Amino acid sequence: MSHSHTATNGRAAGPQGLPIFGNLLSYLPRKLQYLQECADRYGKVVRLRLGEPTWLLNNAEDVHHVLIANSSNYQKTRRLTGQKGRQLSGNGLLTSSSSQHLKQRRLLQPHFTKQTSATFCGLVQEETRRLAKSWHQQKQADVCREMECLAKSVILRVIFGDDFNDDDGEISAAIDARRRYIEHFNLSLFPFRDKLPTRVVRDYQHAERRLHETIDRELRSQSRSTEPPKCMLARFSSATYQNGLSMTQEQVRDEVLTLMSTGYETIGDGLTWCWYLLSQHQSEESRMVEEVKSVCQRDDPGLDHLDDLKFTRMVFNESLRLYPPTWIYVRMADNEDVLPSGTRVCAGDKIYICQYILHRNPQYFPDPQQFEPENFNDAAIANRPKFAFFPFGGGPRVCIGEPLARMEAILVLASLGRQFKLRCVDANAVRLHPGITLRPKGGLLMTIESRSH
Ligand code: HEM
Repeated sequence: MSHSHTATNGRAAGPQGLPIFGNLLSYLPRKLQYLQECADRYGKVVRLRLGEPTWLLNNAEDVHHVLIANSSNYQKTRRLTGQKGRQLSGNGLLTSSSSQHLKQRRLLQPHFTKQTSATFCGLVQEETRRLAKSWHQQKQADVCREMECLAKSVILRVIFGDDFNDDDGEISAAIDARRRYIEHFNLSLFPFRDKLPTRVVRDYQHAERRLHETIDRELRSQSRSTEPPKCMLARFSSATYQNGLSMTQEQVRDEVLTLMSTGYETIGDGLTWCWYLLSQHQSEESRMVEEVKSVCQRDDPGLDHLDDLKFTRMVFNESLRLYPPTWIYVRMADNEDVLPSGTRVCAGDKIYICQYILHRNPQYFPDPQQFEPENFNDAAIANRPKFAFFPFGGGPRVCIGEPLARMEAILVLASLGRQFKLRCVDANAVRLHPGITLRPKGGLLMTIESRSH
């Protein structure tokens, strides 16, 4: 890797790159490895040229500055919040720009608390039981697909209500088509790729129509209901802003579509990596299973057990550390600024905050490549800065679904972990795919063995 030397003018050093292309051609084919090599070589902050000048932050203080201390200076990129990005998730929380975002976030936050998430525990248990039943009949499965499907069934019932069913799989297929399109759009450098009548684009257009129809139909049936709102759709329709007005139907639709794209792949992939890591670390796996048995006895893991499933929680955190489903996010500086590291950022510069890299920084984790749930005992947590580990982000755009995701993940881990032993069919073949989320390339085929109780 050719490189320029450490700058003395407050601009950090980084690899030199090519005329016009900068570092793009090195970065695109092997994103994680390239960012890791740069971080190893250049330290706290790396200067890259990826389109605009780009700063890869590899220290917790700078991340805190960008996400919290001076967050108003760092916006989501126009790729997400511009006209094109909003075509995908409209004015929903994820893609709305700062001015609109705060008002929406205030309105929706009360519906994503720990208490509200707890009301969805029963349906997580039900969906997990349904999957366990089918696993008792199976010898092997693509666990990545299974976890994503489980999380998808959960989020659909969280949105539309307990009795929503998608038995013909149409809605699930529409969500998948939408995801394929978003990935295709997001990862493509060719500006008109989404204008071509390719299969991905046609499937997406069909999926959009199908999802809109479903949301509108469910909204009509909710509006006739006299019951107190339980599902997200009903909660969103009855929520009112400070001025007493409600969301427009279009806004509700955008928020629902946002939940559909943020609320399942993330958890599904997070759980997938847990199964992968546990299969490779059998003493930690046994410790987790013993904990579940002793905390839950013969009961299904449920709300009352969550606080006591401490080691299971440590396993989930450690897995989110090594394989954070949201592996990177990008911000754009509005105005010039100086980061705590001394780096001078200009207006329009991009900031890369890559959890995958920060979570493996030896300054914060003594043996960073090693799976070690004890990284999450109370003492270890207290000894680290907050932004050494932040799988759910931070600041005004922190993940709104964290309480739901945590509740769901722990219950699924505890319940399926106690019943099944999962082993990779070919652990050596597992490769990372850093797409919209970080998932195993081509899925994760595992054998399924029932544990005798
Ligand atoms: C393990 C599971 C999850 C992970 C790792 C995760 C991670 C994240 C991260 C890092 C962000 C911030 C993105 C940014 O600032 O650019 C985010 C935002 C968001 N997440 Fe999650 N998420 C998870 C599950 C969920 C679930 C279950 C839901 C929905 C129920 C959800 C809904 C959202 C929404 C709506 C936003 C945008 C929030 C805003 O800008 O105000 N997430 N998530």
